[in-house]
Amino acid sequence: MIFYLIILSLFINLLLIFLINRKKIKKIIYRSKIQSVNLEKLDSIFINNQIDTNLFGPKQEVIVKNFCIASGNNIVGMTSDYEAWIISSLSKISNKIFEFGTCSGKTTYLMALNSPKNAKITTLTLGPQNLSDLKKNKLDNKISFRNIINESIYEKFLFSGTEYENKINVIFENSINFNENNHINTFDLIFIDGGHTYSIVKNDSEKSFKMLNANGVILWHDFVPAKESAKNIVKYINSISKEKKIFHIKNTSLCYYRNN
Ligand SMILES: C[S@@+](CC[C@H](N)C(=O)[O-])C[C@H]1O[C@@H](n2cnc3c(N)ncnc32)[C@H](O)[C@@H]1O
Repeated sequence: MIFYLIILSLFINLLLIFLINRKKIKKIIYRSKIQSVNLEKLDSIFINNQIDTNLFGPKQEVIVKNFCIASGNNIVGMTSDYEAWIISSLSKISNKIFEFGTCSGKTTYLMALNSPKNAKITTLTLGPQNLSDLKKNKLDNKISFRNIINESIYEKFLFSGTEYENKINVIFENSINFNENNHINTFDLIFIDGGHTYSIVKNDSEKSFKMLNANGVILWHDFVPAKESAKNIVKYINSISKEKKIFHIKNTSLCYYRNN
């Protein structure tokens, strides 16, 4: 009897230790294999100008057009303001841009607002009418799969009806069926923010590597180790970290790869 009580109390103690340290344990299990770097490593446009001995400020290249979504406006699946600024700044020096996952079109609109006049932005997404051919793969995280359904609700976008709409080509298609072979070595900037399941992140990333031009940049959103809905993104990026030089940008959920 005493033996069983000892075993039981041991088990309860271990369970308590696990529950109290759950977050730390998850962080160890799902830790990033990607090096975190300062933003300046991504591109020299992000190196600040020195204004005084104790003051550094942004270069002209990173002064961007911006808008904010008010807190009561419940738009799903957005980047943070800092991430949006990074993408807007890169858009200023990109003529051909591709985005996996349009959602409300917030980032697409920022890309259109900030890119050169003749720039073209292609954005691939799912609307409610495209969900029937969506399939969950064995390796796909359940929550990420459910989020795809919750985020595929838009048929019009924040840029719809604006003067910037003519820079943007929206394609309603499952990225699994998208033919990247018509766009080899084409894009200066690719933003991967579509489905966050393993099969979709892998598909979108492999297609992006083929579609990226020399010196082009791929950005992945939602690289957050230990966050359940981002698990498959971290897993995939970790898995290719030996073949591809991918970096995480400090204080963001963005990772990047530069072709050079
Ligand atoms: C997180 S939201 C994108 C947010 C957007 N990039 C932004 O910054 O505002 C994800 C989007 O990816 C789309 N998506 C998910 N799986 C997809 C797939 N297999 N093919 C194309 N689009 C997909 C969803 O319809 C949704 O619009």
